[in-house]
Amino acid sequence: MTIKVHEKLLLTGAAGGLGKALRERLKVNCTVLRLSDRKDFGPANAGEEVVLADLADAAAVDGIVRGVDAIIHLGGISVEGPFAPILQANILGVFNLYEAARTHGVKRVVFASSNHVTGFYRQNQTITADHAPRPDGLYGVSKAFGEDLSRLYFDRYGIETACVRIGSSFAEPRDRRMLATWLSFDDLHRLITACLTTPALGHSIVFGMSDNAVTWWDNSRARHIGYRPQDSADVFRDTVYAQTAAPDLNDPVAIFQGGGFVKAGPFGL
Ligand SMILES: NC(=O)c1ccc[n+]([C@@H]2O[C@H](COP(=O)([O-])OP(=O)(O)OC[C@H]3O[C@@H](n4cnc5c(N)ncnc54)[C@H](O)[C@@H]3O)[C@@H](O)[C@H]2O)c1
Repeated sequence: MTIKVHEKLLLTGAAGGLGKALRERLKVNCTVLRLSDRKDFGPANAGEEVVLADLADAAAVDGIVRGVDAIIHLGGISVEGPFAPILQANILGVFNLYEAARTHGVKRVVFASSNHVTGFYRQNQTITADHAPRPDGLYGVSKAFGEDLSRLYFDRYGIETACVRIGSSFAEPRDRRMLATWLSFDDLHRLITACLTTPALGHSIVFGMSDNAVTWWDNSRARHIGYRPQDSADVFRDTVYAQTAAPDLNDPVAIFQGGGFVKAGPFGL
């Protein structure tokens, strides 16, 4: 399969956990990888450009988007917390990104959405991309905003977006919930590659998960993306069970898909 269909890709959030995991992996997807974050993360290597920018700064975002063929947008606040930083990075920031994409004719975006868009569905339910959002906090609301904004830019301007509702993407599952939500770094890269290369992406919502036996998410609405996970949390099951206590089944953390996020707070600026 030819996966290098883009000359220059922009990766935002490059200093973060997933940005670091994808930096080397994305080299096969492009000739030049432009890496951006608001935090300094060192110099560019061969085949890279490094441009620092705060997502809340429209002019800076315009600068990082100019000249790229597609965007992998990971930058932003990645956990529940005070509203002001979420507002700046995840709401104003995603608006700035899509305005810059429209201005510069960028036609494809992979947007790091989150399972916390639907965190208030129960762990005994299987949902599809057609289920309405039920965010489990302000962070989840901000990702739902990004999903809606990207749909608007598809309907109005034809900018295609894959909203990847990432489950839990870490080196290994860290707790029992992650046995259902885990997405390996290699599968994340496979999924992003599929989103970048599928002929017709449109505006799509896809759950970012590996091939885990227990799952709450049905990706049947995203078959056109052509993502086939090759890893599974199941190989970690015995170890995770041995290292973690049995959950209290009356605790909202064990009832709802969002886990601990459903109780995070209190909300504030
Ligand atoms: N890791 C996961 O399991 C997971 C799950 C669901 C969703 N996601 C989403 O995937 C993306 C990457 O996740 P991660 O785990 O690498 O998060 P992370 O917090 O490690 O990285 C996010 C990066 O965004 C940068 N950032 C924050 N605010 C910014 C701003 N205003 N301007 C520019 N850069 C800014 C941070 O400096 C950081 O380097 C995030 O959007 C997150 O919401 C991740």
